[in-house]
Amino acid sequence: MKIGIFDSGLGGLVLTKAITNALPTYDYIYLGDTLHVPYGPRSGEAIYEFTKKAVDFLFRQDCQLIIIACNTASASALRRLQQEYLPVHYPQRRILGVVVPTLEEALSSGHHNLGLIATSFVVNSDIYAIELQKMDPQIKICAKATPLLVPLIENDGLDYVSAPLKDYLKPLIDQKIDGLILGCTHYPLLKPLLKNILPPHIDLISQDDFLPAKLENYLERHPEIEATLSRKSHYRFCVTDLAASYQTMANKIFGKPVKLEKVVL
Ligand code: DGL
Repeated sequence: MKIGIFDSGLGGLVLTKAITNALPTYDYIYLGDTLHVPYGPRSGEAIYEFTKKAVDFLFRQDCQLIIIACNTASASALRRLQQEYLPVHYPQRRILGVVVPTLEEALSSGHHNLGLIATSFVVNSDIYAIELQKMDPQIKICAKATPLLVPLIENDGLDYVSAPLKDYLKPLIDQKIDGLILGCTHYPLLKPLLKNILPPHIDLISQDDFLPAKLENYLERHPEIEATLSRKSHYRFCVTDLAASYQTMANKIFGKPVKLEKVVL
């Protein structure tokens, strides 16, 4: 059986690259819902329905384990899918999100005053603050919605990101954050720019840097799941819409050629 990785679009290929580099022998299916990206400005109900369809597709493709790489889908759909959908439809399979592992990483690296940049949905949902409160109520988190970033990144506009990024970061820097969570699959692509803009004492907490090790650790702690996984290094890359520019963008984000396959959920 395979490992599924789901994102609203192509940004999750950054994390997929990091995971497949760290754990190359497993079989993977990436699914990007390019027909409906961006999820960030949508309602929770719409994001839940899209995510449920995506998860259904990946389970039908024989995934044992699905990582919802998309922070927006994690915020809207993860708990509900784990609590309501999974026990009824696929009780032996697993769905993992990104919010709690990201906060674990931020806390284990000793941060006390966190910043977060993410989509409007993630920020308005307060999911990071809610989960952080359960883990360590002493730690503060200051969140800033950054809705212009995904459209710019998805449209090859990295050269134009600096100005809005500086504006978005100013209130977080003023709040004296000591670590910045990049709470969106696309934002690891901004690391070089962020390093230029942020004062050096602010660490970047970027999901592609630590989620592969967290997945490895999860598989070690769950040998019953790991034992079901096939190891032929077979990778499939599926999208729900395949516009002409997507293939070029996917190759660029993944850092080597990938063959996008259009699927109907
Ligand atoms: N992939 C989404 C996330 O990680 C951001 C892009 C979107 O708005 O769909 O939150």
